[in-house]
Amino acid sequence: MENIKLNLGCGEKRLPGFLNVDKFGTPDIKHDLETFPWPWETNSVSEILLIHVLEHLGKETEVYFKILKEIYRISKNKAKIRIVVPHFRHQFFYDDPTHVRVVTPLGLQLFSKKLNKIWIKEGAANSPLGIYLDIDFDLKQTIIKPSQDWFRLHPEKNVDINLLQKESAIYNNLIEQYDMYLEVVKD
Ligand SMILES: C[S@@+](CC[C@H](N)C(=O)[O-])C[C@H]1O[C@@H](n2cnc3c(N)ncnc32)[C@H](O)[C@@H]1O
Repeated sequence: MENIKLNLGCGEKRLPGFLNVDKFGTPDIKHDLETFPWPWETNSVSEILLIHVLEHLGKETEVYFKILKEIYRISKNKAKIRIVVPHFRHQFFYDDPTHVRVVTPLGLQLFSKKLNKIWIKEGAANSPLGIYLDIDFDLKQTIIKPSQDWFRLHPEKNVDINLLQKESAIYNNLIEQYDMYLEVVKD
């Protein structure tokens, strides 16, 4: 039984125990993640890392959808997916010209069939993308990293996450990154 773990867009950070993949440099596997299909079997992967990578991919919505569909296809049921991205209202997002896509927790929850069904029942306007694309991801946890500017304004050690989220809805540069943990749902 295959038990592949992928570190996609590894850059120079090759991790032991993972197949390190990038379109540049000297990874274990050189592959452009915007070229399809990806070179792994259906239901073969138990863990995928995309650390500061997904914001570089899928400028065209159709390509972004294909990437999520490939992540889903190659994953086993309950595979763990970790996605780390810069916060879209932090300067770091704008400094890199290869950042082409905003990724948020709610943006990923649109690919949860369970939430899609709840929102449809409630008459919410959220696009039921999990149902439309026939893919299903459950966002288990989001870790919010406060920025240096936040700590300059709020030097106390314990971060008030609710306040941080409220302030970040109004001001820039308070959240540096989202670190999101998802599980693949297949029956
Ligand atoms: C900001 S770096 C992050 C590298 C590493 N994950 C880290 O945490 O340091 C983004 C990486 O994604 C890779 N990348 C960008 N577009 C890609 C693509 N279409 N296919 C494969 N890798 C890509 C880049 O080559 C780069 O190594």
